Amino acid sequence: MILVIADTHCYYGIVNRQIEHAEKMLGMPVDCVLHLGDFGLYREHLHNFFVRQGLRFLRPVYFIEGNHEDFREFDALLARYNGLYFTHLPRATVQTIGPYRMLCMGGAAYMDALNTQPGAVIRDHHINACLALGPDQADIIISHDCPNGIGVPNTPGLEYFGTPGFPRSRELLEHFKPRLWLFGHHHKWFSTEYGGTIFHGLPGSWKGYCLLDNNYKVITVENNVPWQRSRLVDRLLSRLRIIRAHGPGS
Ligand SMILES: [Fe+2]
Repeated sequence: MILVIADTHCYYGIVNRQIEHAEKMLGMPVDCVLHLGDFGLYREHLHNFFVRQGLRFLRPVYFIEGNHEDFREFDALLARYNGLYFTHLPRATVQTIGPYRMLCMGGAAYMDALNTQPGAVIRDHHINACLALGPDQADIIISHDCPNGIGVPNTPGLEYFGTPGFPRSRELLEHFKPRLWLFGHHHKWFSTEYGGTIFHGLPGSWKGYCLLDNNYKVITVENNVPWQRSRLVDRLLSRLRIIRAHGPGS
């Protein structure tokens, strides 16, 4: 059983709380955790959790990047922590997790226009690299942002960012025709089926997670974990309030 979670925004401890919840509910260990971005790859937070406090994830954690990672230090932070405490799944690659071959498409440009770092943006060459693969080389697509055109609603107040979804995502859908597509980023539950693909959007990690069995079955689990906002999240939220008030060009 794979525990799928998204958007921890540096609150790595929530991953462990959700693992504990899942394992108590299942009466057995989960095999691993698949994290769908906005993991929170920031030096200060990583050091505090893994080094200063000496904490560890309870199960192996694999993650794709979102838009809220420190892309200026991304490679340096991976060199220090990747493979030791968690495993990064590079953008535009296929990785085997459990019984599945997963096409990994981290990154997102939608929302937080003023805070989007260049490294977060999905580029044409990422899409082209995926389309160069055979259509039968991936079973599942995992992304941070959703594919466009599947009906994920805008977050109220953020409509001016446009329709949710990343450019050329439909090309990936038509090329691979995956049985399952999982994403995060929008901080809300979302499920739909279209053209033989089942889509699941996950909320913030503090609201719940999904369990993925070995036969493409996805169970959604709502479980609220109390958390206290850090100064970093306060800064991001206050920036978002400015954007909401004045628009992305302000
Ligand atoms: Fe995000």
